[in-house]
Parts: sequence; structure tokens; C-alpha cells
Amino acid sequence: MTVLFIILGILAFIILWQIFLRLIRRFVKFPAPAFMGGLLDSGLRKRMEPPARVIAGSGIKPGMQVLEIGCGPGTFTLDAARAAAEKGKVYALDIQEDMLKQLQRKLSLPENYDIKNIEFLNNSAYELPLEDNSLDLVFMVTVFQEIPDKQRALSEFKRVLKPSAILAISEWIVDPDYPWTSTTRRMAERGGFVYDGFSGNRWNYTVRFRKPC
Ligand SMILES: C[S@@+](CC[C@H](N)C(=O)[O-])C[C@H]1O[C@@H](n2cnc3c(N)ncnc32)[C@H](O)[C@@H]1O
Repeated sequence: MTVLFIILGILAFIILWQIFLRLIRRFVKFPAPAFMGGLLDSGLRKRMEPPARVIAGSGIKPGMQVLEIGCGPGTFTLDAARAAAEKGKVYALDIQEDMLKQLQRKLSLPENYDIKNIEFLNNSAYELPLEDNSLDLVFMVTVFQEIPDKQRALSEFKRVLKPSAILAISEWIVDPDYPWTSTTRRMAERGGFVYDGFSGNRWNYTVRFRKPC
């Protein structure tokens, strides 16, 4: 009986905490602080939102030139780099230098010595230091809703993507900014992208779009 009360107490705390965070995030937009990097990159999170599944759903293939927006500590960046393989490249972009430092530390671990195709960009999604029509794919995980001016960011993604290249947006219910699929789709379509497919489920999904030719 006591165990049941403890479990119910923990569940109630999680639900109330989520409601509190969601209310705050509705009015105040700011990047997830860098001290949350450990949580974002935790084993539990990777079990619930497996990077290999997100990367496959995004459509990253060998040889692609890929940009990850808001890479954070790099939970998805390493799998993206391995999927793009040695002929491909991943630009890992984040507005917070401290997030990029966490990714840098991970890359310096012996198990990641094989990865040599990541370039760090400490920039905003509004100003990408990349050529027009130069990328095959832009992806982001639990980032899009953190960007206050989404249409400005979308027009920048469109500028750097090649014609008919992919924009993949992944979201997860645990993120306090989590939007319904229909919201993500409406915003990207308003930005001129064409819906291309969906993977995952209602709570943990990736929606793919294409830049029109
Ligand atoms: C919730 S974290 C997600 C990190 C990572 N994608 C993941 O899922 O583990 C959001 C990340 O997006 C970055 N970010 C937020 N707004 C940004 C912007 N306008 N331009 C670039 N990065 C941004 C934040 O610094 C943060 O690292």
C-alpha cells in the first residue's frame, strides 16, 4: 500500500511540474539552459527516444550534407554523423557555446574517435553561416518550439536547403514545449515547406517536409 502511495505521489508531482513548466513556457521563450545537458543526454532519455530511430525517421543517408539545429549536448549528433558516413557531413549548430562544449567532450571519448565529419557552429537558427542551396537535410529534435520567430528560421532553412531537400522536425511529449503534429505541420507549411511523411507516434514523432523545387 505504501509503495502504491509513493508511486502515485511521484506521478502527481511529475504531472503538476509539467503543467507548471508548460504554463511558464507559453509566455516566456528561452533556450533550454546548458546545465540541462546531462538530462537531455541521459540513458533514460535515449531509451525513451532512441537516437537511431529519430535519425532513421529524419531520413539521413550516407553522403548527405546535414545541419542539426539546436544540437545541445549532441544526443542525436553522433548517430547523425555515423549515418551521414565519411562522405557526408553534419554541421552541429547551437546558440549556446556551453552546449557545444558538451558535444566536444563526448567526441573526445575513445568510443567516438571514428567520427570525423562534425563541424561546430555557434550560431542562431536565424543566421546560418552556410551557402544558399548547399544542404541535403536540416533536422532538429525538441528545438523548433523554442525558436520565437519560427517563420524567420524557416525561411533561413529554406535558403540553405537544396531544391526538394528535407526538413525533419522531431518532438517528444516530455518536452514542456511539445506541440501536436498538426501544429508542427501547419507552421512548416506556412513557411513554404511541403509535407513528406511522418514516423513514430503521437507522443514521440518526426515529421518530414521538403523544400519545393
Ligand atoms: C531542448 S534543447 C534540445 C537539444 C537537443 N536537440 C536534444 O534534443 O537533446 C534545445 C536546444 O536548442 C538550442 N536553441 C534554442 N534556440 C535556438 C536558436 N534560435 N538557434 C540555435 N539553437 C537554439 C538551445 O541552446 C538548446 O541546446
